[in-house]
Amino acid sequence: MSKLAVLGGTRAVPEGTTAPRWPIVTDAERAAVLGVVDSGRFTVAAGGEQEIPALEREWADRVGVGHCVAVANGTIGLSIALAAAGVGPGDEVVVPALSFVGTALAVVHLGAVPVFADIDPVSFNLDPDALRTALSDRTAAVVPVHLHGLPADMDEIGAVAARHRLAVVEDAAQAHGVAYRGRCTGSLGDLAAFSLNASKNLPTCGEGGLVTTDDARLAGRAALLRQFGERLPARGDRPYRSEIAGWNGKINAIQAAFTRAQLAHLDEWALARDRNVRAFLDRTAAIPGLVAPTAPDDREHGWHILRFRLRPAAFDLPETAGGALRAAICRVLRGEGVPASRYQSMPLSRQPLFADGGPACRRGDAPVTEAVVADSFVLQRVHLHPDAGPLLDRVADALEKVWEHRATLAVLARAQHGGDRVAA
Ligand SMILES: Cc1ncc(COP(=O)(O)O)c(C=O)c1O
Repeated sequence: MSKLAVLGGTRAVPEGTTAPRWPIVTDAERAAVLGVVDSGRFTVAAGGEQEIPALEREWADRVGVGHCVAVANGTIGLSIALAAAGVGPGDEVVVPALSFVGTALAVVHLGAVPVFADIDPVSFNLDPDALRTALSDRTAAVVPVHLHGLPADMDEIGAVAARHRLAVVEDAAQAHGVAYRGRCTGSLGDLAAFSLNASKNLPTCGEGGLVTTDDARLAGRAALLRQFGERLPARGDRPYRSEIAGWNGKINAIQAAFTRAQLAHLDEWALARDRNVRAFLDRTAAIPGLVAPTAPDDREHGWHILRFRLRPAAFDLPETAGGALRAAICRVLRGEGVPASRYQSMPLSRQPLFADGGPACRRGDAPVTEAVVADSFVLQRVHLHPDAGPLLDRVADALEKVWEHRATLAVLARAQHGGDRVAA
């Protein structure tokens, strides 16, 4: 058994190994960006600008909806989508307790009230039963998040929403072009918002977002909301007339052009990623102390983030030691050269922004979210590149090595767990 790197052994991921760079930048991206710079047309408000409408058409076609409105980022995309659906001050919006904070902020920025509902312990997505429990007579909308790239249980959520006349706005920030029962993320609710942040599976060279819908009226409202409430004429002078209280939520043309170049490879790279990640997960699934992520048969997984839960019992530890075990494993894995980290260190409801005096929210119990936050770690970005297979092999070596040293890990976790209890 080779020695752990934190104890002076050789790293499982050799020193100097770097993850292939993401996003991929080739001559196509460079030419796309330069083309905009040379055109002098930088925003959707510039007469004759073509990159933004072209991206909107291409993405609507890829998703299988009639309309797409490109925006400045995923968070404002969610606010715009919710506002287009009629959500306003005082309305309650159910969101999963585990997500990126942008999901909740998009609600807060409308003066609406996020209501946090618990997640499923395997998919990490909104639990439809928790959605039912979270409803009140003020609930106006639900935001299912396709967390980590796995589509949420949209049929079950849609059925609850239809019964209670709720708007459904998908948070598809982490799930670009992923199939759910034969339909694509972004086409599964009334509207959806995607992020094009540089870290995403469909990235831009900075920040951007896409709002999709099959409803022409909602698309029209979204377009007004991103442009100061103004309706821009196809030709002729801008009238400077605001119909509603919109934002300046526009994407710029450089961002749109870069993403169009990426979109040309989205499916090819997703296929390579799926192959690499599944081979990696086949190995990690054989480690008894780990619960590797999976995708049900009725949907694809975008594999944006890989989250592993830990089984403390397999390390001879009590269930309550999940957090201490995760801390010990992350430390040891980082020593092996694996960038294991936490993704979301607390449920959304416990973000300091919602402390007393902060914006209104409603928090129910979220025991599953609490447990997942404590006993899981993630891999991000290292697996996104189509050539990430060899690196993932080394990461699997590291995870197997950690499992071989489970007795040491248990000692480290026990020391930390004891400390946690004393501190508590
Ligand atoms: C689940 C989720 N929702 C919303 C967002 C917000 O997107 P953006 O960073 O483009 O504003 C993100 C981005 O990280 C996200 O992961």
